[in-house]
Amino acid sequence: MKIINVVGARPNFMKIAPLMRAYQDAPSIVPMLIHTGQHYDHAMSKAFFDDLGIPRPDINLEVGSGSHARQTADVMVRFEEVCLEHKPDCVLVVGDVNSTIACGMVAAKLGIRLVHVEAGLRSFDRRMPEEINRVLTDSISDLLFVTERSGLENLAREGVASERVHFVGNVMIDTLLANRARAQESDVLSRLGVTGDYGVVTLHRPSNVDTRDSLSRIVEVLAELAEKVPLVWPVHPRTKQRLTSFGLLGELEASPRFVLTAGLGYLDFLKLTSSARLILTDSGGVQEESAVLKVPCVTLRENTERPVTCEVGANRLVGSDPAAIREGCAWALGVKASDIADPELWDGKAATRIVEILSSTT
Ligand code: UD1
Repeated sequence: MKIINVVGARPNFMKIAPLMRAYQDAPSIVPMLIHTGQHYDHAMSKAFFDDLGIPRPDINLEVGSGSHARQTADVMVRFEEVCLEHKPDCVLVVGDVNSTIACGMVAAKLGIRLVHVEAGLRSFDRRMPEEINRVLTDSISDLLFVTERSGLENLAREGVASERVHFVGNVMIDTLLANRARAQESDVLSRLGVTGDYGVVTLHRPSNVDTRDSLSRIVEVLAELAEKVPLVWPVHPRTKQRLTSFGLLGELEASPRFVLTAGLGYLDFLKLTSSARLILTDSGGVQEESAVLKVPCVTLRENTERPVTCEVGANRLVGSDPAAIREGCAWALGVKASDIADPELWDGKAATRIVEILSSTT
């Protein structure tokens, strides 16, 4: 069985790494790896291939940035050619980025079996591009692998036949557990000059960073928190552009209570988060990682498609309201690691389960 595996943007890389490894024990599967090129900077892409030992992609579609329509369309046109040439039996997509739905649509229309890893997550917020990508990808997938029980409920409600759905755990957590010990050797803390207690910030959602009003409100409340705990902030390229154009970057860079850095590699970021006192984020994946690292997470969103992170006591949703962010941080500073439970099946074996199921359906 020839499987084309698709990656495009940063959060895809840690999800595909354990699958590429697990295929090595599945002689009936011939995997190919396609990078759409949605993310292309060294720090957003190649650094993760190096850190995680992901094989070089067989093909890079090099689509780059663009409006949603252009980016999605470019991936579709180029990916269709790849499928026509290589005739895979199966296309496997992960997560919820534009590359996921673009390649999913191409596969479905060519009648190629589509597999979605990290299916079923729902924020119920259609203003998020990722939510549209999730709903659409799941609706055309033949085989759906789910990370948490809420995904089973969501797919059942949407009428997806249960025999197509498997609750297997979380491939991103496979990667975290496989690299946790190695990450401890990272010298990121000394490189950044961080000592003692600190918090980690990551922000990139358009709803938080794309308007001056919302980004400056968030920066103001972060500055208050930073007086208590210094904050380390690896800045996403989108956020960097916005901080610069809204005139907020200079003040942050000048503050001794903030450490701003460009995006970090996987091992450096894992070391940074695993030793943090708290995390403030609007990322989906970071919420999940924080639950396993047992570092409390304050999520600057009104909703989450990953409710298990709240259920195990690792995560609080605070939106972008300063009072709620303050309250969330006060909660986080009082949480102990032992207050946080383990999410079900996030045990490092999700990729093995997926590959077993794929092998048994050849
Ligand atoms: C994308 C995903 C989002 C994911 C995030 C992780 C979609 C709809 N969004 O958002 O779900 O959480 O990746 O990062 O697919 N840029 C660079 N270098 C790069 C890539 C992007 O500088 O390597 C800049 C470009 O100016 C680009 C902007 O970042 O326009 C946004 O990139 P894009 O891929 O459109 O979306 P992300 O915000 O990264």
